[in-house]
Amino acid sequence: AYTAEPFVPGRGGLPALREAAAGCRGCPLHRDATQTVFGDGSKDARVMLVGEQPGDQEDRQGKPFVGPAGKLLDRALEEAGIDPSEAYVTNAVKHFKFTQAEPRKRRIHKAPNLREMTACGPWLAAELAVVEPELIVVLGATAGKALLGSSFRVTQVRGTVLEEEIHGRPERLVPTVHPSSVLRSDDREAAYRGLVSDLEVAADALS
Ligand code: URA
Ligand code: SF4
Repeated sequence: AYTAEPFVPGRGGLPALREAAAGCRGCPLHRDATQTVFGDGSKDARVMLVGEQPGDQEDRQGKPFVGPAGKLLDRALEEAGIDPSEAYVTNAVKHFKFTQAEPRKRRIHKAPNLREMTACGPWLAAELAVVEPELIVVLGATAGKALLGSSFRVTQVRGTVLEEEIHGRPERLVPTVHPSSVLRSDDREAAYRGLVSDLEVAADALS
């Protein structure tokens, strides 16, 4: 089975993890992507935000949530009372998966499958073990399935505080929609208000 496990160092903290992840060959997604997009933020962060996978901009810049979805997320976090610069931000899958009709054509995001999510899980587990956040904000269905299993339904649990054991540790989580889904929504304003309101639940759980 595909797995990042043999690439994950047992010590050295976030710098060692980031360096090792740059060379991960745990699944086929490294082949077409530009680079590994590892999590970003302080090991002392109180909140960890988990998205799906890097997008086009993230793949080019090597940092999570720097494109349009990231801009929207930062704005929503600030409005909810969470300082984006104090959060640790990462993704369930660390390489950009895409389809491209022809070289030089636009790269279109493709959702990672269960095998790729499972393969990449050891990186997320290692980030959780180092950062030990007080709260995990789960951004959308892929992050939810990666952390909580395939029965996860974002519509059923968004905006609530869940307590679950994850990779052997008791964690508190607040799920919400993925910021990209707000950008795609027919009623963007309502979708955005919903995201902010879920993030307010996270802010309350942190105070
Ligand atoms: N969407 C994600 O899930 N993660 C990113 O880093 C960017 C967009
Ligand atoms: Fe490794 Fe994850 Fe990239 Fe697959 S997606 S190669 S498991 S870092």
